[in-house]
Amino acid sequence: MSEWTKSSWRAKPRIQMPDYPDQQALQLVEAQLSKFPLLVFAGEARRLKKHLAAAARGEAFLLQGGDCAESFEQFSSDAIRDTFKIMLQMAIVLTHGAKVPVIKVGRMAGQFAKPRSAPTEVIDGVELPSYRGDIINDLDFTSAARIPDPSKMMRAYTQAAATLNLLRAFSTGGYADVHQVHSWTLGFTETEKVDRYREIANRISDTLDFMAAAGVTSDTAHTLKTVEFYTSHESLLLEYEEALTRVDSTTGKWLAGSGHMIWIGDRTRQPDGAHVEFASGVQNPIGLKCGPSMTASDLKALMAKLNPSNEEGRLTLIARFGAGSVGDHLPRLIKAVQEEGANVLWTCDAMHGNTIKSSTGYKTRPFESVLREVREFFAVHGAEGTVPGGVHFEMTGQDVTECTGGVRAVSEEDLSDRYHTACDPRLNASQSLELAFLVAEELTQRRNKANAEAVGA
Ligand code: PEP
Ligand code: CO
Repeated sequence: MSEWTKSSWRAKPRIQMPDYPDQQALQLVEAQLSKFPLLVFAGEARRLKKHLAAAARGEAFLLQGGDCAESFEQFSSDAIRDTFKIMLQMAIVLTHGAKVPVIKVGRMAGQFAKPRSAPTEVIDGVELPSYRGDIINDLDFTSAARIPDPSKMMRAYTQAAATLNLLRAFSTGGYADVHQVHSWTLGFTETEKVDRYREIANRISDTLDFMAAAGVTSDTAHTLKTVEFYTSHESLLLEYEEALTRVDSTTGKWLAGSGHMIWIGDRTRQPDGAHVEFASGVQNPIGLKCGPSMTASDLKALMAKLNPSNEEGRLTLIARFGAGSVGDHLPRLIKAVQEEGANVLWTCDAMHGNTIKSSTGYKTRPFESVLREVREFFAVHGAEGTVPGGVHFEMTGQDVTECTGGVRAVSEEDLSDRYHTACDPRLNASQSLELAFLVAEELTQRRNKANAEAVGA
């Protein structure tokens, strides 16, 4: 086996990546980016890995969420703030149910490149190359817009840096102080779930008053004042990833400095392919999407390649089978993990197996299917005695109409009102909060069962 370097992926078969017509321009961008500061630091990635290891043991829970594809056009501080807010709200609800820390990881500050189901797209008889995310080409349906342009990597880097800057300020600058728990409510999410959220927030406020009386305040307890918020994205555009990969001076190991956690998509997880090769050599926590076509032997080969030392927290398996199919696929993969004695964190992406085309022509996801997949994921882990350690959603804090259903029911006719996603349909703030309550119920049931068993034992 040849040795890993940050460019060893170049000798492997690559798919879902653009062929840049202007190679010289590409090289110029790569050279520039490779001198730019990294967006994240190795110590942060290692800290996240420790938290993920705890989640794999059932001592924490992962909430990973954000846009399907970040876009240049919709970049705004309000959009970032609202997604940050809804994730804090969801985390409060989940912590309340699970009674364990919730690890918050955004699909943010780097989620720009998209794998596509077809290389071209046909509209009204005109065929053009597919849109592959704002870091590669443009969504406009013209042949000029669809040409891969390497200079877009510079803009993506700049947007990611500005996004991270804001997220860091929100996390530590007072906004995320738990005393603000009431102010995270988004204006347009007036549903019964918001009332339930307020009830929890009231209880937290009471507890904080009690703690203050006992001398514990944000000034004495730093953790009340800040949250840890991590970033993640699919590591798809490997030229961009390689340029931001450097040696961490503390450990001498390589770090993908484009985000804290990177994942490998369901379409690019070939054990001998370029994407697995790249991820295998960096020290970040790695996510691996597991779809219906993954076999037990695929998974074993991937675990051997991506986590040969069986390090805890290194590998997160993101199950995305679709509602009604979890029971057909998850058990064989859980068995494969057990046979290898592998340390993995299991999470549920309840989005990517549930995409349908609505009668009105929009790509959508029924809220009921998303919910059903989460329930099936918990049920299978309950039956197998393994840990359902997290959830992964495409969601936004904005009031969009992209997924149907939910308490403030979005109908197929409503989809056209505020359908803003550049790629897959996202849950809106109210659907996200509703889902958090349902996941919290699953977690509470799990905890009660474990407690009852402990008493019975
Ligand atoms: C995604 O997470 O946006 C994605 C494309 O997922 P998958 O690789 O699971 O299809
Ligand atoms: Co998606």
